Amino acid sequence: MSGHGTAQPMTARKSGPLTGRAEVPGDKSISHRALIFGAMALGETRITGLLEGQDVLDTARAMRAFGAEVTRHGAGTWSVHGVGVGGFGEPADVIDCGNSGTGVRLIMGCMATTAMTATFTGDASLRKRPMGRVTDPLSLFGARAYGRSGGRLPMTVVGAASPVPVRYATPVASAQVKSAVLLAGLNAPGETAVIEREATRDHSERMLAGFGARVHVEKTAEGNVITLTGQPELRPQTVAVPRDPSSAAFPVCAALVVAGSDIFVPGVSQNLTRNGLYLTLVDMGADIMFENPREEGGEPVADLRVRFGPLSGIEVPPERAPSMIDEYPILSVVAAFAEGTTVMRGVRELRVKESDRIDAMARGLEACGVRVEEDEDTLIVHGMGPGGVPGGATATTHLDHRIAMSFLILGMASKQPVSVDDASPINTSFPVFTPLMTRLGAHLEPAQ
Ligand code: S3P
Repeated sequence: MSGHGTAQPMTARKSGPLTGRAEVPGDKSISHRALIFGAMALGETRITGLLEGQDVLDTARAMRAFGAEVTRHGAGTWSVHGVGVGGFGEPADVIDCGNSGTGVRLIMGCMATTAMTATFTGDASLRKRPMGRVTDPLSLFGARAYGRSGGRLPMTVVGAASPVPVRYATPVASAQVKSAVLLAGLNAPGETAVIEREATRDHSERMLAGFGARVHVEKTAEGNVITLTGQPELRPQTVAVPRDPSSAAFPVCAALVVAGSDIFVPGVSQNLTRNGLYLTLVDMGADIMFENPREEGGEPVADLRVRFGPLSGIEVPPERAPSMIDEYPILSVVAAFAEGTTVMRGVRELRVKESDRIDAMARGLEACGVRVEEDEDTLIVHGMGPGGVPGGATATTHLDHRIAMSFLILGMASKQPVSVDDASPINTSFPVFTPLMTRLGAHLEPAQ
């Protein structure tokens, strides 16, 4: 589990041109949900293309602890024999969700309306992250949570024996909070509703409907109102997990900043709740062609042809943040190689991710010779043009996979090599990052 092993320092040096085909692994959000919804359906769900990153493996282990039978048949091919809504058994031991906020928050949601007690923990990163955003709405169903100060893990959740349905307006734009409430609503009688002012990734709504739940989404002046009818019988499904657009972001952005690159990235999601980075890159002048639009695994996808070229700094529209929330670290690397300034506002949520991503990016970019400005809710990067970043520093990754991958890509295009203190967290979301990038022409090696 990341954060429990020894650190793996890694160095990236000037690379390229990057060429070839980048087939990124399955979507992390959809992989977690396939296992969790499969465990709550009655009968056997078959999954192909499952991301076998540590975050998802930890969720698989948790679903077993609640009584589901989870079996790996081959690379990415899994089955889940689910126990039905309300059918979870009490786990015999602490549930360790490793590095995964999605895992722990969704699982808290799906046990919170069943009469049982479960204790959750995670690695040093996850134990710093706020859980009150999930346990507050879960308490409205009748669940109780006892954690460390600040609502942090380890935390024990006592599920509601007689849950009541809930109507809840999320105070932060968070698909994890929305999903936790919907999952809790599954085992409450009557209608549970979540109101979100800004649309966040909609995989839970889409997939729950696919598993046979009654889910209704209405756009209103208050935002999206998602209503779920409780106590359905979820029917097992065959889930083909599409590739992860948040992982595709890394080879795509690498090709945009490494001189002479020309790569092909098949099957990148164009789901409007996930594609903010791609819109932003196009606004910056990126040479990206979106070819062969189609549907894969229930998601709209396209094949991307991405070529190196000049980029301009822009103001990223703040309302785009929820659709690219995981992509700001790699966008700030792209911004460092653009001409002019890139302003990212409305990004305070980055401070409570696997690390404080505003701080981690700002400190690492500064160490590599890039001028940045920040406040609580903003990150501004002053671009140095193609190949213009000095590099020559080691970035601290704070157990954050996306910080590690971002600085390695910075090093592929900067004048001097860039190292990260620990590349092991990359395994949580993109276990084949190093071989995939190396095949494209990246120079990555273990650091001393
Ligand atoms: C996720 C939601 C987002 C995102 C995370 C995955 C999900 O978190 O950052 O990587 O699968 O629901 P928030 O809900 O905290 O925004």
